[in-house]
Amino acid sequence: MNASAAPPFTPDDLESARKFFAGPWEFVWASTRIDDLPPMAGREIAFAGRSNVGKSSLINALTGRNALARTSRTPGRTQQLNFFRMAGGDERLTLVDMPGYGFAAVGKDKVAAWTRLIHDYLRGRANLMRVYVLIDARHGLKETDGEVLATLDKAAMSYQIVLTKADAVKASDRAAVVAGVGEAIRRRPAAFPEVLMTSGETGAGIPELRAAIGRLLAEQG
Ligand code: GTP
Ligand code: MG
Repeated sequence: MNASAAPPFTPDDLESARKFFAGPWEFVWASTRIDDLPPMAGREIAFAGRSNVGKSSLINALTGRNALARTSRTPGRTQQLNFFRMAGGDERLTLVDMPGYGFAAVGKDKVAAWTRLIHDYLRGRANLMRVYVLIDARHGLKETDGEVLATLDKAAMSYQIVLTKADAVKASDRAAVVAGVGEAIRRRPAAFPEVLMTSGETGAGIPELRAAIGRLLAEQG
């Protein structure tokens, strides 16, 4: 038994998180510059990761929407920080879709601008409660991931690793992939020790991720 594992979710936890995320999410703001972020309200949760890992797809899976966040087969789709909130002035939670890092083909200037924006946002946003750092389960941690994790560690910004595209890894290999990444981040000070695994394609792990976010909101009031 892993002593650091969070207590399991009850059916009630899963159901109330499902209901919460079934709400009417809408796009509220896009930023390309750190001095153009939306006014802070409630709590924010950001989804970071290399280009094409499935950040936008995960936001769609969480909110049960096909195209709240735009996705694409080609890397470099999301080019701004995109902020989503519940319609009707519900400011409890803002979900933030980020541009991907580590994708050179968009050009040097853009890569530099995105990288700066990503790092500035991740270390400086006061109402950012948790960052989910997405890693493609087929590829594991890369050098650019390490740079982002270092920024988060330095800023003491709490983050959790989510392995994406679980459906693309053989079922018999999944536990070893989770364990390997867990070992790689074991000494990182701001990392949540438990590594999650999801699939936007099959929905695996989505109810648990919703419940984990619900628990965070409940804990932090
Ligand atoms: P950028 O915005 O370019 O940084 O990419 P992103 O991280 O937002 O990725 P996006 O959600 O656009 O998905 C990239 C590609 O991966 C798309 O072709 C998705 O259909 C695919 N994809 C996303 N999630 C999954 C998944 O769980 N399983 C599989 N097999 N493919 C997925
Ligand atoms: Mg995207």
